[in-house]
Amino acid sequence: MSESIITARDVRVEFRAGRNRSVTAVDGVDIDVPARTAVGLIGESGSGKSTLVRALLALVPVSSGSVEWEGRDISRLRGADLVRFRTTAQMVFQDPHSALDPRRRILTSIVEPLRVLRIGTRAEREARAEEMLTQVGLRMDQAMRFPHQLSGGQKQRACIARALIVEPRVLICDESVAALDVALQAEILNLLGDLREELNLALVFISHDLSVVAHISDHLHVMHLGKTVETGPTEQVTRSPQQEYTEKLLASQLTVGGPDQPLLGAGTTDPGRTRS
Ligand SMILES: Nc1ncnc2c1ncn2[C@@H]1O[C@H](COP(=O)(O)OP(=O)(O)OP(=O)(O)O)[C@@H](O)[C@H]1O
Ligand SMILES: [Mg+2]
Repeated sequence: MSESIITARDVRVEFRAGRNRSVTAVDGVDIDVPARTAVGLIGESGSGKSTLVRALLALVPVSSGSVEWEGRDISRLRGADLVRFRTTAQMVFQDPHSALDPRRRILTSIVEPLRVLRIGTRAEREARAEEMLTQVGLRMDQAMRFPHQLSGGQKQRACIARALIVEPRVLICDESVAALDVALQAEILNLLGDLREELNLALVFISHDLSVVAHISDHLHVMHLGKTVETGPTEQVTRSPQQEYTEKLLASQLTVGGPDQPLLGAGTTDPGRTRS
């Protein structure tokens, strides 16, 4: 396996929920993201997927455990180091429409991260944006439009261009195709697969749709109630799951075919996880 970019050990994230209560959203997770590897996070709603990646990006503090990027503990990064770190990993979210400023032309949104980080001259930034447009399959005339003048797939391409313009090593996709119809999902997944090859990116890919995650991931983490219940190469986890939960997850998605169906009955948010 190639060198690890992210190494997280025994990560716990607790949120306060009222005065004397806390919710353990992530409960002792180990995860590695090797360079140029796609790691899929799968688990039903509320299992802690988004919170885990937010912890990996230092967007929420960990209550205990450690998150290292190339051997550096990210909770200790400050100032310029933190800014540099923030360019190493970029996120693409579920809803491309709300991720783009409706009053700005697409091109302006794509260039924005470079402007904020004061990278390059204006002309250099625009030249770089043009390269990114080609890479994600958008034309300049489309980039001169406003978000409401593009389709969902085109907007998601713009969000991917904006994420990639700072040349990250890791792209984190949190349900990035969930809002798109099936044909478009495949199109964006293929684009992400191609970009990963071309740009030597590592991907962390979150979805509660197993077929989507399995399509793109080399490695799977199955999450349930804040814990990793199973992890391994995608092929191994999908062909011979070792845990009952993974089996149920596979079975429900194969038979029901619907990621929106609860996997283990209605009571998926275990009250046992809310501690007094
Ligand atoms: N800021 C917060 N404050 C309090 N509780 C939170 C906060 N963020 C998340 N949680 C709780 O943490 C748990 C995990 O949430 P998280 O968003 O990580 O799940 P998820 O797996 O991403 O779900 P989904 O598939 O619906 O996006 C949930 O019980 C959620 O209610
Ligand atoms: Mg989420």
